[in-house]
Amino acid sequence: MVCINEIKKFLKKNLSMSRYNHTVKVTALAEKLARKHGIKKLTEIKIAALLHDCRKTRPGAGEHSFLSARAARKKFGIKDKDILNAIKYHTFGNRRMNDFAKILYLADISEPGRNFPEAVRIRRMAFKNIDSAMILALTAKIRYVMSSGFPVSIESVMLYNNLVNQKI
Ligand SMILES: [Fe+2]
Ligand SMILES: [Fe+2]
Repeated sequence: MVCINEIKKFLKKNLSMSRYNHTVKVTALAEKLARKHGIKKLTEIKIAALLHDCRKTRPGAGEHSFLSARAARKKFGIKDKDILNAIKYHTFGNRRMNDFAKILYLADISEPGRNFPEAVRIRRMAFKNIDSAMILALTAKIRYVMSSGFPVSIESVMLYNNLVNQKI
């Protein structure tokens, strides 16, 4: 398994200060959520969180999820599917997400540095119920994307529909 200090060194060199700080907050929150929900792979969730934005060079560009997953595989030799899928799906979501991936998604969107109005609600709900928190998070994200005039990811909508249908 790749060394966490090695990853941190790489991130410090390659990420802006604000993105590095975001990454550290996502990692702390993801670990707390994983413990709360009984996820056994704690080292793996930390690695996924540390690397989730490792190839993000400009704001808003969704392809960084796929580029970051590829860097995790190629640069750090990560083969663990949970880690790779969580990184891949952290921006748009995906119907095949498991709890591990959902925790990274929730930690990313609601870490304490996020200052949009729903962030606190999403974070609180994330400790109680992962899927309810995902619905809140996807609602906020889809609404934001639409109000900004950007196209909505079909994966986000399908994941949202699946989660809502499960609840009805
Ligand atoms: Fe990201
Ligand atoms: Fe992020």
